[in-house]
Amino acid sequence: MARVSIRDLVVEYVSGGYVVRPIDGLDVDTDDGELVLLLGASGCGKTTLLSALAGILHPTAGTIIVDDTDVIGLSGNVLTEYRRHQVGVVFQAFNLIPSLTAAENVAVPLLASGMHRRAALDRSRTLLGQVDLADRVAHRPRDLSGGQQQRVAIARALALEPPLLLADEPTAHLDYIQVEGVIRLLRRLAGEGRTIIVATHDDRLLPLADQVVELSPRTREHAEPAVVTLHDGETLFRQGDTGDLVYVVDDGEIELTREREHDVVEVVAHVVAGQYFGELAPTFGLRRSATARAVGPTTVQGSSPTEFRSSLGRRELNDLIAAHPSADRARVRAAARSSDAVTTRTSNGSPTHPGSVHMRRPSRK
Ligand SMILES: Nc1ncnc2c1ncn2[C@@H]1O[C@H](COP(=O)(O)OP(=O)(O)OP(=O)(O)O)[C@@H](O)[C@H]1O
Ligand SMILES: [Mg+2]
Repeated sequence: MARVSIRDLVVEYVSGGYVVRPIDGLDVDTDDGELVLLLGASGCGKTTLLSALAGILHPTAGTIIVDDTDVIGLSGNVLTEYRRHQVGVVFQAFNLIPSLTAAENVAVPLLASGMHRRAALDRSRTLLGQVDLADRVAHRPRDLSGGQQQRVAIARALALEPPLLLADEPTAHLDYIQVEGVIRLLRRLAGEGRTIIVATHDDRLLPLADQVVELSPRTREHAEPAVVTLHDGETLFRQGDTGDLVYVVDDGEIELTREREHDVVEVVAHVVAGQYFGELAPTFGLRRSATARAVGPTTVQGSSPTEFRSSLGRRELNDLIAAHPSADRARVRAAARSSDAVTTRTSNGSPTHPGSVHMRRPSRK
């Protein structure tokens, strides 16, 4: 059994020149023997988090404590020992060796830890029995179904009896009968006192979990409208934040910026009175792709994505999403103050140029 405590975890990548933080300030606590689901859409950071827990990826900041081990602080032999004995990983692609039988695949970590071949194969047969594959020990991966390969991978991950088992998308590519087998197995293994952390976007697994950690931002469709007054330089939201509201500038100006690598900040757009911004994150449950900051004293009105959608026609919304030229930020003014009244106003301010790029160094305060 293992107790996992994650605090303020940040993992940062540079992707296409931009900085992305799929994990940004995450806290998770699990109890001994819990089955925890990491749930979220593709790209939200599930595999990233499992890799950090497995000691395969070094996070940018934060702590991961598994029982008494500070995982991020490990290196060299101690890290190898942790990976080998504290944690078992079942990868999404199974990663079985095609030329080896099921029993030989399960024996790989046992042999690597110094066990004799005969003892290793005995133990792997026992493990395969525990995952209901006693009659498949001599089969090679190509002669096994997806669900059976998945169970061989689970048996291999359990070979050195790690107290923590991590599984990445264990039900991906399986038919419903195979999914049933994997669900039963995971529940049984957690019941035997192991802590199991499963990454998935399959919400059929929800009833299985003792704890669910949502990694995708959830948008509140009916978030309360809000009028926000900002002083010069004040931040409304940051890149990577979750977002409930779509904003219209009432008065003043908002600058949208995006972080590039090497601490460079790119100005994405200037949004002025009558124009809207921040529509994609709450509409699609994404994180904010830019930081919004006031240029001079500024007032903005926030409305829910539902209100925003109803204030746009279907065509206009589609054009906007596809970044069609006719999707002019200035044409629609989402209603925020009176919840369902929608007014349309043409901007008298300068147009936005979402494509324009201005580089500058961020000011570090
Ligand atoms: N090595 C890397 N370099 C740059 N960006 C990366 C790297 N690995 C992951 N990312 C990015 O980090 C984000 C999270 O990726 P991750 O694979 O953890 O997501 P996921 O939730 O497991 O997605 P999926 O459900 O598709 O498996 C994605 O935007 C991805 O493009
Ligand atoms: Mg993944």
